[in-house]
Amino acid sequence: MSNNDIEWLEFAKTLAMKAGEIMLEARENSTFVRDYKMDHELVTSTDIAVDQFICRGIIARYPSHAILSEESSPHMDLSALATDVPVWVIDPIDGTVNFAHGHHHVAVSIGLYIGDKRILGVVNAPFLGECFWALKGSGAFCNGKRLAVSGAQELRSALVATGFPYQKTALAPIVERVSRILHHCQDVRRNGSAALDLCWVAAGRLDVYFESVKPWDMAAGALIAEEAGATVGYYLPQTLVWPEVVNGEGLLVSTPDLYDDILALVNTTI
Ligand code: IPD
Ligand code: CA
Ligand code: CA
Repeated sequence: MSNNDIEWLEFAKTLAMKAGEIMLEARENSTFVRDYKMDHELVTSTDIAVDQFICRGIIARYPSHAILSEESSPHMDLSALATDVPVWVIDPIDGTVNFAHGHHHVAVSIGLYIGDKRILGVVNAPFLGECFWALKGSGAFCNGKRLAVSGAQELRSALVATGFPYQKTALAPIVERVSRILHHCQDVRRNGSAALDLCWVAAGRLDVYFESVKPWDMAAGALIAEEAGATVGYYLPQTLVWPEVVNGEGLLVSTPDLYDDILALVNTTI
């Protein structure tokens, strides 16, 4: 842990708390409008407002840092990850469908990377009044309380979370995996925020999470889960689309004792 890390963490927490206030206010006053990206993916004016708020804050404070943000720079050149330039990875609203439908399972996610290292992660869920964070090597916390994964060891008592892509053509193999898991595990949850799914594994409220997601969905939550003792890996072979450390394709996160069994179950027909 360095002075820089602590300063960056406090900065990220401040941004995430303020971003949470923007979400609370927009929903309280119904001041947001809905739109669609690529014809099928819901986005609201609050996603854009939070994105702008966070990116402007980072640029003002750390002009030499790079930003990969879902709404304003999703195609950013990630070659900065091959240097020592700090890269902020932002999901302004993770759980946009929940946000637009008045659900509480919504978060802002802020991760910071240098090279192939996860430095920090902050996930703030304003409607739940919970802010999760982690600093590499210093543990994971929720509202100041240290987190630890559950002691789950057996698939039959494991609570498993996943999510579904917006593209309906990609659904079939996922539904087939979910069916297999429903037959062998306690139950399945689809809570609608990948960042919070990862935090809930960290908090021991879920035993497993698997899904193919984008870097901004997992950038903060993967470190929070890791720092709480989870095993973070993949059920699909690595693609070259994203550097490995921010790759969310085929992400599999679980308690250490469950990992090999859940990996086998997700990948094979039992
Ligand atoms: C989505 C959520 C959801 C997951 C999707 C993500 P968004 O993010 O994390 O839980 O299943 O894959 O795209 O669109 O609300 O930022
Ligand atoms: Ca997301
Ligand atoms: Ca989002």
